[in-house]
Amino acid sequence: MYKKHFNLNRNPFDLTPNPASFVPIKGHNDALTAIYHGVRQHKGFVVVVGEVGTGKTLLVRCLLDLLGRSRDIAYSYVVNGRLPEVEFLQYVLTDLGLPVAGRSKYELLLDFGHYLAERNARRMTTILIVDEAHLLSSEILEEIRLLSNLESNEDKLLQIVLVGQPELDEKLDSIEFRQLKQRIAVRTQLSGLTLIETRQYILQRLKQAGCPNGDTRLFPADTISTIHRVTQGLPRLVNLVCENALIEAYGVRAEFVTREIVQSVARQFRLDVEATSGARDLRLDPLDPELQSLLKILLEGYRNGRRAASDEDLAAFQEPER
Ligand SMILES: Nc1ncnc2c1ncn2[C@@H]1O[C@H](COP(=O)(O)OP(=O)(O)OP(=O)(O)O)[C@@H](O)[C@H]1O
Ligand SMILES: [Mg+2]
Repeated sequence: MYKKHFNLNRNPFDLTPNPASFVPIKGHNDALTAIYHGVRQHKGFVVVVGEVGTGKTLLVRCLLDLLGRSRDIAYSYVVNGRLPEVEFLQYVLTDLGLPVAGRSKYELLLDFGHYLAERNARRMTTILIVDEAHLLSSEILEEIRLLSNLESNEDKLLQIVLVGQPELDEKLDSIEFRQLKQRIAVRTQLSGLTLIETRQYILQRLKQAGCPNGDTRLFPADTISTIHRVTQGLPRLVNLVCENALIEAYGVRAEFVTREIVQSVARQFRLDVEATSGARDLRLDPLDPELQSLLKILLEGYRNGRRAASDEDLAAFQEPER
């Protein structure tokens, strides 16, 4: 509804992870290159970790786009890691075009091994890509570890890409999965964008929607700084804030998005709570024994008619010299 008002030919901040909207932020570019080369050079195990909304699924879709251009590549793309083991195997094999009906797990694994060996002999690459891998059960992770054991004398037969939120790292750090962790050949991490990257991101997405290259009138520098602060540079939040800021700016027929509009959107979505209240810095950890003792001394001071704890009392809690 705001498109005409702002001279745009589509919504610039659509939330769908669409490769056509990919902005080549350095971290994303590096990650995509690392994953692509990892699978093309048959490194075996590739892991991509990133906070919620950093662009992992978009990256996977870009990867699939790239892989889809090569005839020597076949892949299975799994997004539902909550399947039971046999269903998981059936899903992967079906995705790769193998028959699964009426086959036991043993037969499925045998078929899969033959399929991979035969493709490898023809110098073809087979890839298993799991998005939302932090949700995988221990059983499926173990199954994936076993699949990663399939290798010829010189080569890994199956390339595996696991993509997930930081909980994936926690799982892989556990003793249970130390064998799997040791097999990771490429590991890459996505994080929030810096201020400069956030600017690049916003301007590029506006350009994709018909805004002239480098036109900063719609989102001036101070507006972008505020967006970066309230979103911590997380692309999904940047999209959410920019989209709603455009709607709000259109509502008041503003010529451009002001910092105040962004602040209002941030309040609406409660994004300003952590960033502006300083709550994180002031919050006392109730389990911290040192702080508990300090509080006790302060309270006792009040109870004894003193305005606060004495200097001697407080001196005991000064930071130890390093
Ligand atoms: N480099 C980029 N270029 C263009 N859009 C991006 C980029 N990175 C992230 N986005 C956008 O940010 C939003 C979130 O991306 P995505 O869904 O891929 O995040 P995610 O890391 O998979 O999140 P989750 O952890 O919730 O699965 C999407 O709208 C996506 O298009
Ligand atoms: Mg995702």
